[in-house]
Amino acid sequence: MKVPFVDLPSQFQALRSELEAALAPIYETCDFTLGGAVGRFETSFAAYLGAQHCVGVANGTDAIQLALRALDIGPGDEVITTANTFVATVTAIYQSGARTVLVDCDPISYNIDIEQLRAAITPRTRAIVPVHLYGQPADMDAVLGVARDHGLRVVEDAAQAHGAYHGDQAAGTLGDLGCFSFYPGKNLGGSGDGGAVITNDGTLAEKLRSLRIYGVGEPFQYALKGINSRLDTVQAAVLGVKLPYLDDWNRKRFAHAATYADRLAGLVKTPGIVNRATEGRLPHVFHLYVICANDRDRVAAELAERGVATGKHYPVPIHMQPAYQDLGYAQGAFPAVESYAAELLSLPMAAELSDDQVRYVCDSLAAII
Ligand SMILES: Cc1ncc(COP(=O)(O)O)c(C=O)c1O
Repeated sequence: MKVPFVDLPSQFQALRSELEAALAPIYETCDFTLGGAVGRFETSFAAYLGAQHCVGVANGTDAIQLALRALDIGPGDEVITTANTFVATVTAIYQSGARTVLVDCDPISYNIDIEQLRAAITPRTRAIVPVHLYGQPADMDAVLGVARDHGLRVVEDAAQAHGAYHGDQAAGTLGDLGCFSFYPGKNLGGSGDGGAVITNDGTLAEKLRSLRIYGVGEPFQYALKGINSRLDTVQAAVLGVKLPYLDDWNRKRFAHAATYADRLAGLVKTPGIVNRATEGRLPHVFHLYVICANDRDRVAAELAERGVATGKHYPVPIHMQPAYQDLGYAQGAFPAVESYAAELLSLPMAAELSDDQVRYVCDSLAAII
């Protein structure tokens, strides 16, 4: 049996006629950037999350960069995030001009460690960027508590957590600003790059609307030094078609994750699900389902021989990447992230996977391990 890591072709076939109907008018009017579908998607996504404002941008990395810049965070400032994230979180902080301060992850949830976060605060710290890794919100009660105690801003990296809940609030709506990626493989993904910043602060939303398009204010007036980070109309239309399906897709991911957890119990370790009350909403949307395996590369190779595709998120931590040696962290600086990086293995995860495919992955793992 073949089990793909994600299954975008099946998703496309299911939505084909809706996508074609949504895209044709854009080509007829040639309304390609920041067109009507962008505003409509921004309104629906903000409503879906229960937030006031959504500002569409070109990708999730820009979303984080522009969120920090909207808060006037830049050169001379420090921004704390977790060493256990995709490189883009740090790319974005670098692009804002601020200095990235990394902290280790909590060895149960693999999200930011709160005690180490507290210990990393200096007089230059301006913001915290918690990452809701794999689809599970970070401990936002604690993050917001630290932020309140120290007068810091919170920019959530919710690029992997569309539709996840922390208590009664959606990931991305708890901090000052929340940032999403709509990269095609995300739980809500476009047909190319896309991103959004969410906020309940109208002034910040207006600033973001200017920053995403060269800093324009009145016509031909540039009060801010912005960038070009428009959300394409085509992407917004695709996202508008997919958004109504997101909760159903997330529930299917959750069910697949339950099968994995059940069948793999005792066989492999997985990052812990820290189940905070969510009143019927999903506390984890399983963008990725990650296990730990001592002999990870052999397990991945043998799964591949049986037709099962896997991934690694992320096998080389940020502080060990050549580009970020200037952050000044030696090997051994973040023991939880480092030991985890050597063992993690992401299993196939998509709403489109069949129950048989998920069971086949479990049976294959049992045979291999
Ligand atoms: C945790 C995290 N942060 C940021 C990003 C950046 O998003 P994008 O690739 O849309 O720039 C991604 C996705 O790729 C991500 O997974």
